[in-house]
Amino acid sequence: MDSNKRPENMERITTPELAAAFIDGQIAAVRKQVGDKKVLLALSGGVDSSVVAALLIKAIGRQLVCVHVNHGLMRKGESEEVIEVFQKRMDANLIYIDATDRFLDKLAGVAEPEKKRKIIGEEFVRVFEEESNKLEGIAFLAQGTIYPDILESDGVKAHHNVGGLPEDFKFEGLVEPVKLLYKDEVRVIGKALGLPVSMVERQPFPGPGLGVRCLGAITRDRLHALRESDAILREEFDKAGLTAQIWQFFTVIPDFTATGVKDGKRLDYWPVIIRAVNTVDAMSATVPEIDYAVLKHITDRILNEVDGVCRVLYDLSPKPIATIEFE
Ligand code: XMP
Repeated sequence: MDSNKRPENMERITTPELAAAFIDGQIAAVRKQVGDKKVLLALSGGVDSSVVAALLIKAIGRQLVCVHVNHGLMRKGESEEVIEVFQKRMDANLIYIDATDRFLDKLAGVAEPEKKRKIIGEEFVRVFEEESNKLEGIAFLAQGTIYPDILESDGVKAHHNVGGLPEDFKFEGLVEPVKLLYKDEVRVIGKALGLPVSMVERQPFPGPGLGVRCLGAITRDRLHALRESDAILREEFDKAGLTAQIWQFFTVIPDFTATGVKDGKRLDYWPVIIRAVNTVDAMSATVPEIDYAVLKHITDRILNEVDGVCRVLYDLSPKPIATIEFE
């Protein structure tokens, strides 16, 4: 049987009871797979890796070593939040690595989306290999792969958690306890594991992070504008009560400028695109109607507060034909 194929008769996990049964099954499976060996987990702080962390902490406790790599492509305040929730509240065995310069140097001048993903994915694994070499006896690599990642892995995308592993992969094996689950099921599992609702309901964030939203070759100035505009969007959607209603929303910054004007001078500034979508499993998505006043207020704030930006656009395109991310 293909272990990457969801059995046709597998029940959709929608209730705490089904979640509990799944968790028990996975705890047993993980204990059997890893024995008394140590497992390294990339804890990005997204729903998938957070749920895997909580599940593995329950299954193997301190045998799980969580590594949070700040690749410089995190959203504003995100690394701080991971440390707060996992290290301070959950007492996880967590190592924090700030690898910002290393990632941005490697990515300099690289414009092709799949190359960017590959570089980020491979660099991630290298960082983990380096960490595992420093740590005694790390045997397994855990990942927050979910079913849509597997379904799309032979398509145009090389999602970092499926397609980005280099050939010199040195671990004994992978631990991927939620790889046959859809996103909504992963959230049910997270709730059953007692993770805070704010974390379980958090919108997904791609492994390559802001790297796939800073289109084309990443530059530090555009990355900064992207991060700041994204933070404004999140703050204002929160205030407007939209966070719980919209599945995923973020800003995107293209790699071309548009003409702006300030103090009578024409300028080459960047546009910022707002992307907001609703979906169940990320395979198709619709665009929500956002109150015009909210969009207008966000536009004003971004234009006033974020250097180098002269336009704000709202993307109305559903998936298909557009994907959720821009690249
Ligand atoms: P698309 O753009 O394919 O996105 O409609 C579907 C969902 O997947 C996320 N996404 C990624 N997640 N690595 C990830 O872990 C990636 O390279 C990646 N690309 C897209 C995207 O944010 C959306 O939730």
